[in-house]
Amino acid sequence: MKRSGFVGNCSYIHLNNVRSAVKYISGSPQAIQFETMSDYHKKMMNHFGASGVMLNLSLAKELGVVQILVEAQSPLTSQQVADKLNLRERYVREILGSLAVGEVISVDDSSTQFHVPDDRKGTFKAISVLSRVLPPMGLRHASVKECAQLRNPGGIVYSQTPQIFDVMKEILVEVKKDMIDTDILSAVPLMLPKLESGIKVAEFGCATGIISNKLASRFKNSTFLGSDVASEPLVQAREEAKNQGLQNVTYDTHNIETITETYKERFDWILTRDVIHDLTYPQKALNEIYRCLKPGGIYSMIDVGIEGGITGNIANGSAMFYYSVSTFMCIPESFRKPDSAALGPTWGAPLAREMIAKAGFTIINESVSRTDEQEIHFVCQK
Ligand SMILES: C[S@@+](CC[C@H](N)C(=O)[O-])C[C@H]1O[C@@H](n2cnc3c(N)ncnc32)[C@H](O)[C@@H]1O
Repeated sequence: MKRSGFVGNCSYIHLNNVRSAVKYISGSPQAIQFETMSDYHKKMMNHFGASGVMLNLSLAKELGVVQILVEAQSPLTSQQVADKLNLRERYVREILGSLAVGEVISVDDSSTQFHVPDDRKGTFKAISVLSRVLPPMGLRHASVKECAQLRNPGGIVYSQTPQIFDVMKEILVEVKKDMIDTDILSAVPLMLPKLESGIKVAEFGCATGIISNKLASRFKNSTFLGSDVASEPLVQAREEAKNQGLQNVTYDTHNIETITETYKERFDWILTRDVIHDLTYPQKALNEIYRCLKPGGIYSMIDVGIEGGITGNIANGSAMFYYSVSTFMCIPESFRKPDSAALGPTWGAPLAREMIAKAGFTIINESVSRTDEQEIHFVCQK
C-alpha cells in the first residue's frame, strides 16, 4: 500500500540516488514504501503553497471578495471586484491570482476574468469561513512557542484572541446553519415532544449562544441556560437573545468542571458542542454534567471523534486541519494547569466513549454530522 506522510517516530533512508525513500517505523523491521523524493518535494511545496492560498482566502472572506464572487452571475475582473468593495485593485488582483493558481476559483485564458462555478459556491464559502481561523493562529504563534517550553507550563485561553469567538460564531451561522435539525434534534427524537411541552435545558461552553438562542426561539415552553467559562462571548449571546425578544434563555459564566450545587439534578437535557476535548479536566466535567441531569436525563455530547489516530488519517485534509488547529487553539485552551488532560480534537471516539461510560452514562445513539464527518453526536442517558 502506498502511504504518504510520516508515521510514528520514523527516519528516512535515501536509496538509489534519492529516487525513492523508505520509511521505517521505529522499533519495527517493517518498511513502508514511500513516494519518490521528487513527489515528496512536490507535496511539501503544495502544502506550503496551500497554506498561503488559505491565508489569502481568509483575507478574501474578510474583505468581502468571497461574497462578491458568490453573488456574481458572470466572471469578474479584479477591477470590477475592487470597485464594488472600494478596494485597491492591485491587492485584489493578487488575492484573486493566489486563489486561481490554487484552483480555489476559476480564471479564463487571459488571466483576467475570475469566477466560481455555481456548484462550487457552497464549498467555497464554507471553507472561506474556516480559513478565518488562520489569522488568530498566527497571532498565537509566539505565545504557543512560549507555552511549549517545559520551563513555562501554561496555556492561552480563547479570550486572549477573542477574534476566535467570531470565527466559531460564523461557522455555526454560515457553515452549520442547519445543524439544529440535521445534527442535533435528528439524533434525539425523544426530546422533541418534551421540548414542545416544556423542559429545562443547559448548554455548557455555549460561547456566543448561537445554539441556545436558536433552540430557545424554537421551543418557547422550555427554558434554556447557556453557560461558558469566558464572559466575552456571552455579551453577544445576551444581546442576540434580547434582540430576538427571547424570555426563556439566560446566560451565566461558569466553569463546567465545577458546576454549582444549585444545578444538581436540575436539567432534563444538557448539550456541549466542541467543548469536552478543550477542557483542562474533561472527566471531571462529564461527572459534573451527570450530576446536573435529572435521573433519566439526556446529555448530548457533540464533539470531534476522529477515528484511527495518526496512522489512520494520513493525508486526510480534515485531520490535517484538526491537528493543526489543535496546536494553536485546543491544546493551549486546555493547558490551564500543568496536569491538564490536553486531549485536543484528535482524542478519538473510543476514548470519548470510555470517558462517557466512566461518568455513568449509557450511550443510546451516535450520529455523524452532515457537515463534518469527524463530528459525532453522542446521545448519552443518565
Ligand atoms: C471550541 S469552543 C466551542 C464553542 C461553541 N460551543 C461552538 O460550538 O461553537 C469551546 C468553548 O468552550 C468554552 N470552555 C472552555 N473551557 C471551559 C470550561 N472549563 N467551562 C466552560 N466552558 C469552557 C470556551 O470558552 C469556548 O467557548
